[in-house]
Amino acid sequence: MESLLIKGGVPLHGDVTISGAKNAVLPIMAATLLTGEPCVIRNVPKLSDVKFMGQILTWLGAKVEIEGNTVRVHAKKIRGMGDYDLVRKMRGSICIMGPLLGRLKKATVSLPGGCVIGARPINLHLKGFEALGAKIKIENGYVEASAKRLVGADLFLGGRAGSTVLGTANVMMAATLAEGVTVIESAACEPEVVDVANFLNAMGAKISGAGSPTITITGVKALHGAEHEVIPDRIEAATYAIAAAATNGEVTLRGARADHLHAVLDKLQSAGVKMVRSAAGLTFSRGGKFKPLDITTLPYPGFPTDVQAQMMALMILTPGISIITERIFESRFMHVSELTRLGADIEIEGPSAIVKGGKPLSGAPVMASDLRASAALVIAGLAAKGTTQVNRIYHLDRGYETMDAKLRKLGARIERIEES
Ligand code: EPZ
Repeated sequence: MESLLIKGGVPLHGDVTISGAKNAVLPIMAATLLTGEPCVIRNVPKLSDVKFMGQILTWLGAKVEIEGNTVRVHAKKIRGMGDYDLVRKMRGSICIMGPLLGRLKKATVSLPGGCVIGARPINLHLKGFEALGAKIKIENGYVEASAKRLVGADLFLGGRAGSTVLGTANVMMAATLAEGVTVIESAACEPEVVDVANFLNAMGAKISGAGSPTITITGVKALHGAEHEVIPDRIEAATYAIAAAATNGEVTLRGARADHLHAVLDKLQSAGVKMVRSAAGLTFSRGGKFKPLDITTLPYPGFPTDVQAQMMALMILTPGISIITERIFESRFMHVSELTRLGADIEIEGPSAIVKGGKPLSGAPVMASDLRASAALVIAGLAAKGTTQVNRIYHLDRGYETMDAKLRKLGARIERIEES
């Protein structure tokens, strides 16, 4: 397995280009199953999750070509069952269910199961499919949705933590080929959901309201092929903005969209991080003394859970008491014990982490656990004195395109090694 070896204490300087959004491209790749015509997706990040989704679509019978940052999918003839092992390994693949149900009126995938950050249930996805007329069957680790006909319906998709991102995408995709009108209340408002809706409309779907809590889909007979450019990854952008501030550097994010980052920019400003907008992009630097924060993660447009770990890496450098409350996932503090190994002082009280910031960080070997926790460990390693080895960085490669190369270009002393 590979590790990242980081010699900390170097301020990051320069430009970094933000890649396409992982959490948009996965459901958009799944959406290509809704038509028998070829689709072209551009600005696709080079990630292992994208390769994996390509393998799943190929297994279903689609022709998939991934060349650089362009993916071509032609799902001329497909089967309705996702390979047990493939689907089980990547949570994001659950979003093939909606398109398979829409196109074939039948979808069978392995139950996605949980991961380190939480149980990851799919009850809301299934509630939406049932509202459209599907019968749900769960046996032998598979979940099957099937329907003679899909009929549009009014449905409420809010759950115990608010809206569901992939649940909204899944039900929206199935509803594009249902008979009649579907109204999804308490829909997720994330920019990635809007990007999926824009791609579906380019395919001939009739969707309005994406980005608001009420999405209306008027079913059509069939969808046609389309081309689409994926939006930039707001979570990657937030990660590099925080890394710039944490290392007392100055970094310009090319292609980042400030309009997708309001909650993050608001908190970075409160923390004392400076941001300047220019034609080149968004430039982040330390604006003076850092100030501690009180952050709660919420569905969009609230503060994103996917930036919680990275923000904690900044708070451990900030003198004073910061409180970070995680309201979306039940166990998304795996990074806390590893940050503690670098010298951080963090206590967990239920859904909150109490960060006593300002303690000096010194490098140590640490273990990545999930995608965003790994990013937090890299940020802390870049700020710490001495050498940090981040192990199991396959987690990082799932969601960050060549992070070590991008950081080296910004002056970081970071290299990828075989884990000893
Ligand atoms: C998407 O996951 C993202 N992944 C996650 O990003 C992100 O953290 C999450 O949305 C929240 O923003 C992709 O888009 C591939 P949810 P998703 O359904 O859709 C509960 C990353 O690091 N829930 O919005 O699976 C669930 O348990 C990843 O890039 C139900 O109760 O998340 C959670 O508490 C991590 N029932 C909350 O809703 C359901 O049927 C939000 O989950 C579905 C979800």
